[in-house]
Amino acid sequence: MTRKLLLDVDPGLDDALAMYMALGSDAVDVVGVTTVMGNTAIEHTTHNALSLLEFVGRSDVPVAKGAAKPFADELTMAEYIHGEGGIPAPIRDRLPEPTTDPVGDHAADFIVDQARKHDDLTIAAVGPQTNVALAIAKEPELPSLVDGIYQMGGALKTTGNVTPQASFNFYVDAPAAARVVQDGYPHVVGLDVTEPAYVPSKVVDRFDGQNEYRQVVSDILRLKADNETGSFGFDGTVASDSVVLAGILDDVLTFEDAYVAVDTTSGPSNGATIYDEHGVYGEEPNCKAAVDVDPDRCRDVIVESLERLG
Ligand code: RIB
Ligand code: CA
Repeated sequence: MTRKLLLDVDPGLDDALAMYMALGSDAVDVVGVTTVMGNTAIEHTTHNALSLLEFVGRSDVPVAKGAAKPFADELTMAEYIHGEGGIPAPIRDRLPEPTTDPVGDHAADFIVDQARKHDDLTIAAVGPQTNVALAIAKEPELPSLVDGIYQMGGALKTTGNVTPQASFNFYVDAPAAARVVQDGYPHVVGLDVTEPAYVPSKVVDRFDGQNEYRQVVSDILRLKADNETGSFGFDGTVASDSVVLAGILDDVLTFEDAYVAVDTTSGPSNGATIYDEHGVYGEEPNCKAAVDVDPDRCRDVIVESLERLG
């Protein structure tokens, strides 16, 4: 059965892949894309989303522009990974200028509207959590209106990727991440499962030189690998947002009900995920934490759904 899916993104290289996976899959119907600042500024993430949709002939998908700033902190961007403007010039120059504009609604309003409109909506929030937190602030019933909220963020038992303890998406807007975890009963898909499912270089080769779309996919994967191999030592691309999508499209992740808190203290552990694995706080679970991944199956889902689009 086709599920309705809303993508909240900060494209961003792996955000682009997540969008293309969703558009390529017949398991989900993408009802809209909402943009958030994160990897780059909101003007760029919004332009990139529109342009990525235009490139694959899907400018019919509505895009709603969202938060330009985190709640409390100034924006930390990840252009050092994703390139200036969120998609580096050699790839961005091959994408068309958008012929459409964002819809008039703010992303937070768009999310609430879509949740009310569809009774089977899944939200994949693969950037900083600001838009979803705003949507919950506006409509506290949001979590019960949707089928599920999947977050890309967190580092349960592993180290962070922006500070030693924090994953980028939770670090950028820790209070927003905390709000979504506290109130949204989300699926928390963190670096513990996204990193082992990195896309190896040899898999990237199969996208090379086949058509314009597949070459862009290949270049995105290769460029991100080049940027990350030096820092983290993976022989391939950690495409975290794609792993979230694989977890929505197929049964590649194992989730456990757990109690998680997000550090909002602004100190050295800001944005860290406090995962109460053994229940020492005695709190009721507040999320479904991804504790394991089938890396091979996950890679297959990523590759197959990307290939299905073109
Ligand atoms: O981890 C850095 C960024 O890359 C995050 O936005 C994540 O979602 C990915 O896009
Ligand atoms: Ca992202």
